[in-house]
Amino acid sequence: MDLESPLLTIMTALHTPGAVALLLGLTGALSAQTPPGEQPALGSNRITQADITGGGLTVDEVRAAGQKIFSTPFNKLDGYGDGPVNPSDTTSPGGRPTLQNNGTFLRINGLDAQTCMECHAVGSNAVAPFRFAVGGVGGANTNAMFMPREIDVDDEAGNGFAGYDGRFINPPFLFGSGGVELAAKEMTEDLQRYKLVALSQPDTPITLLTHGVSFGTLRWDSGSLDWDLTQIEGIEEDLVVRPFGRKGEFPTVRAFDVGAFQFHFGMQPVEAVGPGNDGDNDGVADEILIGELSALQIFNATLRRPQADPPTPDVLAGEQTFGAVGCAECHTPEIRTRRTTLPLTFPENERRPFVNAYYQIDLVGGNAGFDLHPSGGMVVPLYSDLKIHSMGPELEESFGSPRDGDFVTARLWGIADTAPYLHDGRATTLTEAILLHGGEGQTARDAFDALPDTDKIDLLTFLRSLRTPVDPTGGL
Ligand code: HEC
Ligand code: HEC
Repeated sequence: MDLESPLLTIMTALHTPGAVALLLGLTGALSAQTPPGEQPALGSNRITQADITGGGLTVDEVRAAGQKIFSTPFNKLDGYGDGPVNPSDTTSPGGRPTLQNNGTFLRINGLDAQTCMECHAVGSNAVAPFRFAVGGVGGANTNAMFMPREIDVDDEAGNGFAGYDGRFINPPFLFGSGGVELAAKEMTEDLQRYKLVALSQPDTPITLLTHGVSFGTLRWDSGSLDWDLTQIEGIEEDLVVRPFGRKGEFPTVRAFDVGAFQFHFGMQPVEAVGPGNDGDNDGVADEILIGELSALQIFNATLRRPQADPPTPDVLAGEQTFGAVGCAECHTPEIRTRRTTLPLTFPENERRPFVNAYYQIDLVGGNAGFDLHPSGGMVVPLYSDLKIHSMGPELEESFGSPRDGDFVTARLWGIADTAPYLHDGRATTLTEAILLHGGEGQTARDAFDALPDTDKIDLLTFLRSLRTPVDPTGGL
């Protein structure tokens, strides 16, 4: 590579005529920001979708490319950052104000890190020193600060606490996400099929039971010629299971990642803004290629699953209590899938989650390490029903949306290693996290609170047996 010609390097990296033309128009501005020897952190040898689907790369080579993207500290030559401030919309990616207006981190509302690894790096904080791991959790100092319009640090409003009308959101880990994604896709596949059943039996409530989880009932109303959706539970009206994001808003890791690039880094994936298009007016197009997001998705989906320590009698007793007080009604211990292979698709189709498959991930034989179920398929020991629940005023967010109190059931696998707890990391201990359950979780919370101490201790001992994987990437 010719390091003496940074502009050429960028043009080669971008390799689309539109981007090159655009860059040529900006030569003056760019040469000012490209010191000799500097180049995009992603380099010029970028992975494409054709590289992945062509079959010339092993799965580990694709995973390594994904790991590199996950760990790359992006810079402005990669397209890090937004374009000029947009006074009519200063909070969405694209035209956000940045610190000192020099295009770097404000921390609030994004431009909050240079690399995914900054926030997803702790494998376990239950051991000293931390065990670091690619794809792990983050502490409170890596919380995303989402959409505040006002921060009242010195409590001018007189609430007795500092005011903040957005959200702090604590980074979860990505271990085992391939199994979660497969379970969700199969559930969606079934729920969409129930629509046909309901159509063939008009006016009859059809039970939406899939993978051991009930989403209420659906009915085709022959009078109004429309769906009766009043009895569905824990899912949006389109009957698509969305496990990712605290609110349960993203069906796949890929769908989440598109937004993560835009929010944290001001980097615009091609699939969001189109090829050759500088979606955020920062002088760079094709910031994240379709193949790069695919490599990232493959890397994430193959991260090893969390695994429980071998059970002791106390753990077994605690697990029983966990069921007896009603925790397992939402924190479903395991979901059994039909398949053992996860088809990754592009473009993604939420209601038809298996169309457009471009890659198959073996979740049993590969690095993800899921166990076969004796009667077929595999087991995802996630401790979640992947449903959305209304969790009461204590946990409610403050956006003024009817869904402010709704959260997808947190997956408890790995919980021993991932303090702090709850979506914003407000709970520093497991007991605090449990006692903050309200709404649909109130009954189980009260039953936990009423337990004799020995039973409480057993239940917490059980939760502390749920561990993160020791080597999630399999030594990539
Ligand atoms: C500033 C910290 C930060 C950075 C940087 C960051 N994340 Fe995250 N990540 C979070 C937080 C916080 C959440 C939880 C969001 C929510 O629940 O709504 C999250 C959630 C996720 C999830 C969904 C996990 C789940 O189980 O719901 C994925 C996937 C993810 N991040 C991938 C990435 C990728 C890929 C990158 C780099 C492009 C990245 N993150 C960069 C903080 C970060
Ligand atoms: C009505 C469904 C429901 C029930 C019942 C329920 N939970 Fe939860 N649980 C949730 C949801 C939803 C969250 C995520 C809340 C948040 O992040 O703010 C959660 C979060 C948690 C967390 C924190 C997870 C993390 O990674 O931060 C723990 C620990 C937990 N629950 C344990 C329990 C225990 C123990 C019980 C029984 C006493 C229980 N839950 C009962 C729905 C439920």
